[in-house]
Amino acid sequence: MTQETSLKPADLIYPMFVRPGEGIQKPIPSMPGQCQLSIDKLVGEAKRAADLGIPAVILFGIPETKDATGSDNYNPDGIVPRAIRALKEAVPDLVVISDMCFCEYTDHGHCGVVNTPGEKHYTTGVPDGYLLNDPTLELLGEASVVHANAGADIIAPSGMIDGMVKAIRSALDDASLGHVSIMSYAAKYSSGFYGPFREAAESAPGFGDRSQYQMDPSNRREALKEIEMDVAEGADILMVKPAMPYLDVIAAAREKYNLPIAAYQVSGEFAMLHAAAANDWLDLKRCALESLHGIKRAGADLILTYFAPDVVKWLED
Ligand code: PBG
Repeated sequence: MTQETSLKPADLIYPMFVRPGEGIQKPIPSMPGQCQLSIDKLVGEAKRAADLGIPAVILFGIPETKDATGSDNYNPDGIVPRAIRALKEAVPDLVVISDMCFCEYTDHGHCGVVNTPGEKHYTTGVPDGYLLNDPTLELLGEASVVHANAGADIIAPSGMIDGMVKAIRSALDDASLGHVSIMSYAAKYSSGFYGPFREAAESAPGFGDRSQYQMDPSNRREALKEIEMDVAEGADILMVKPAMPYLDVIAAAREKYNLPIAAYQVSGEFAMLHAAAANDWLDLKRCALESLHGIKRAGADLILTYFAPDVVKWLED
């Protein structure tokens, strides 16, 4: 009667990794229970999630080949567009969210086009290796239209590229895809907690780090500024990421904005709980549920979590 916060399956978004091939279910060592899945296996696992009452999945692709511009991301026959078509056909009511970023698709592992001598967008006067914001916006728009045409319900830009929401909104609207929503990774920090994900998605940057475009962990006001820009540009859902080290940012976003707030319990948060539980130092179920209630209590409406199917079962117990 007095419980103030509760978790339910409808709060959860399940992140999944899709790779080429057939019959493949390749475990990710730092993320127990999580796998890179070929499309056939992805469909099976997504059905299982939908049957548990999880309303949405978010997809990350591991392409066959990578190049300077991450072209697999805007190829209609790229890994994620193919996966979206298969999911929408097999599980039509499942909401399919497409993570929209280039780091999984570029050979250098950065989240967009970087300044490279001899390449198309090379700009003199800009340091080599610097991420080129506006050429990246064009490609984000193009890739979003490809993913939306494949059937994605929500595009989730995660690169922290300035102007990404506006560029994607205009590209979608120009392609008569006004019904497709945008969930923006609005306040995404340059975090060490993405370590296991970069192994899972094979997306670690080949040089440097992502601090040119992701946020300084010591900043809170800047997060609100980033969120404000995404609201103005037309975001439908705002995300804070990671979740547990940034509960104050979730709470501030909830306080100030009336759009749905999502929080991403990232790979490192998941890995820490599993590693401690494997040593019998923590009780996995208890601590995972405690973390998720904390994220909800801070103000998140939606939580992206690798625990999603476990949570449904734990709640049923
Ligand atoms: C970028 C992206 C990242 C994550 C989601 N989208 C990684 C990064 O910025 O390096 C991290 C998710 C996680 O750690 O679980 N496409």
